[in-house]
Amino acid sequence: MVSETAQRALELRRLLQRASYEYYVLDAPTMADSVYDQLYRELQTLESQHPELITPDSPTQRVGERPQSQFVSVRHNVPLYSLENAFSLEDLQNWQGRFQKLLAGDLGDLEYVCELKIDGSALALTYENGVLVRGATRGDGQSGEDITANVRTLQTVPLRLQLEEPPAVVEVRGEAFLPLASFERLNQERAAAGEPLFANPRNAAAGTLRQLDARIVAARRLDFFAYTLHLPQGWNQPLPQSQWQALELLSRMGFRVNPERQLCPSLGAVQAYCEHWSTGRLDLPYLTDGVVVKLNAFNLQEEVGFTQKFPRWAIAYKYPAEEVPTRVLQISVNVGRTGAVTPVADLTPVEVAGTTVSRATLHNADRLAELDLHLGDTVVIRKAGEIIPEVLRVLTELRPADAVPYHMPTECPECGQPVVRPEGEAVTRCINASCPAILRGALQHWASRDALDIDGLGEKLVRQLVEQGLVKTLADLYRLTAEQLASLERMGKKSAQNLVAALEHSRERPWSRVLYGLGIRHVGSVNAQLLTEHFPSVEQLAAATPEQISGVYGIGSEIAQAVHQWFTIPANQDLIEQLRAVGLQLGSQETNRPTEGHLSGKTFVITGTLPTLSRTEAKGLIEQHGGKVTDSVSSRTDYLVAGEKAGSKLDKAQKLKIPVLDEAQLQALLTANPSES
Ligand code: IVH
Repeated sequence: MVSETAQRALELRRLLQRASYEYYVLDAPTMADSVYDQLYRELQTLESQHPELITPDSPTQRVGERPQSQFVSVRHNVPLYSLENAFSLEDLQNWQGRFQKLLAGDLGDLEYVCELKIDGSALALTYENGVLVRGATRGDGQSGEDITANVRTLQTVPLRLQLEEPPAVVEVRGEAFLPLASFERLNQERAAAGEPLFANPRNAAAGTLRQLDARIVAARRLDFFAYTLHLPQGWNQPLPQSQWQALELLSRMGFRVNPERQLCPSLGAVQAYCEHWSTGRLDLPYLTDGVVVKLNAFNLQEEVGFTQKFPRWAIAYKYPAEEVPTRVLQISVNVGRTGAVTPVADLTPVEVAGTTVSRATLHNADRLAELDLHLGDTVVIRKAGEIIPEVLRVLTELRPADAVPYHMPTECPECGQPVVRPEGEAVTRCINASCPAILRGALQHWASRDALDIDGLGEKLVRQLVEQGLVKTLADLYRLTAEQLASLERMGKKSAQNLVAALEHSRERPWSRVLYGLGIRHVGSVNAQLLTEHFPSVEQLAAATPEQISGVYGIGSEIAQAVHQWFTIPANQDLIEQLRAVGLQLGSQETNRPTEGHLSGKTFVITGTLPTLSRTEAKGLIEQHGGKVTDSVSSRTDYLVAGEKAGSKLDKAQKLKIPVLDEAQLQALLTANPSES
């Protein structure tokens, strides 16, 4: 007999599964976010009280598991083939000609399915009795890596197929990819954290899928389009007879199938489709590098079969790459906020993928050496979805006789100090803490929108402040007077006053944004938020060991190490003291949290382990609604929130007749006033 609780858990899973399918796959939400959150929490609570009710297809299992140490290699039952490429419409004609000869009799016009070729990373998903049991990478096509924990975090991969009677086993294949918006956001985060950028969404998707920590995968929001289905014989439902029907079945199973697919009644229609998307694809929210054309009927696919390497029944029509030759006029070196020294080529301006490009990155010393770049060389540059154009290769046959090779400088072009390149690292760095380029970068980062958001403190002004010696540290900004500022070039009295006001205003930014603004390596705004939720003051963070820091959910050991190390440097400790002296928020007590809210005036104490919320989360929620959280129970305490293993505080509260809430009651209290969010 199924208990009422088990019944409810099942019902919650169904409701949540349906809602997230509508939200993510259909892009047509029907459930309000708040309702979803409430049902999700109810399921979480049920599952934490009855762990035996957790099923692998429960929506709570998407959040990502603890890091793995390595991936296990898995053999594909059916190899993942790659495709032959076609680069012109004639190539498509020839392709058809080749397999038409293999087909018995004249079949007239052949039917094709055109699908956009998504530039991501192929995945093979195995479902047993409708439940996702394995997700694997393509690998070499014969065997790949088991990345099931990562695949579970993809919201558009169903954990359970939407079929009444699923087959005993089915394998679904498709492309995992990073939508352009997520790719750009990811790179912005990485730039802000001083980490190397991903060159393009494909690398970012492939790199993400191979993350050992599934929580990182969950945060990056990969998406998935399904395109192939391997169904064994013996399923009691009608099997698809064509690629078009297979795509429809995939869609019914709950997968996202690319909506731009088209059934083409002839090769002419295929060619028209390819032409249409050659420009149309530039408006899509994800990257496509071509069109995959497949012979529609499965019986014909079987008849034409495979070559040594490829299926004969499919081909990838590739759009011409956005690669253009141009000349290198000069090579300059850019010194970033983290001291990273990046060589950049100044080019004769050319049009690439719709924009004019006059500079391209050369990445680092290794890349420079590999290219063997000479000043005056003609190079091929590329910009295909990448945000930064890059130099792909040198056309050595066009090299002028007197061209001289270029080498990375051994000294920082900004401060003249020797640069260093740590063993095993690709990046060359200036490590002079008072290098003006590093200071300028640090100031600009500090002023940026997600950090202290200081209106009017732009690149040009920062340069002047540093050159004039008016600002030597972040704290110096807060000592600037309107008179000093007004004396700078192109700076009127009014703008000087505005800037002083903006600086004044920025003193109120919360501790999380101050931490982000410090520009510690790997500490982007998300990590800063996580860290400050856990370490409510700079003292606590500075005193924490790397182990304590990496104990924060979502913070890995590399980040923890970087944070810990930052606080051991005397100059940084000094900076913190100076920032304190000029009135920045270095703890959450002073943050600009709302004091108005329906819990305003109420004091809470939290004790014991709550089933789903951490204490910091519970505190944050109470504070969001205007309440206050203190450490010890007294007659002034309004509520005690108690979880498991609550000790003396619970006794004391009971003695003082203070109402005691469990997590669910706290949640109810928090949502009691729907006008609050
Ligand atoms: S079909 C035998 N369909 O392109 C069928 N592949 O060069 C092989 N790809 O490894 C794949 N979108 O990663 C197919 N709609 C699509 C695709 C697609 C992207 C990728 C896939 C594959 C590569 C083939």
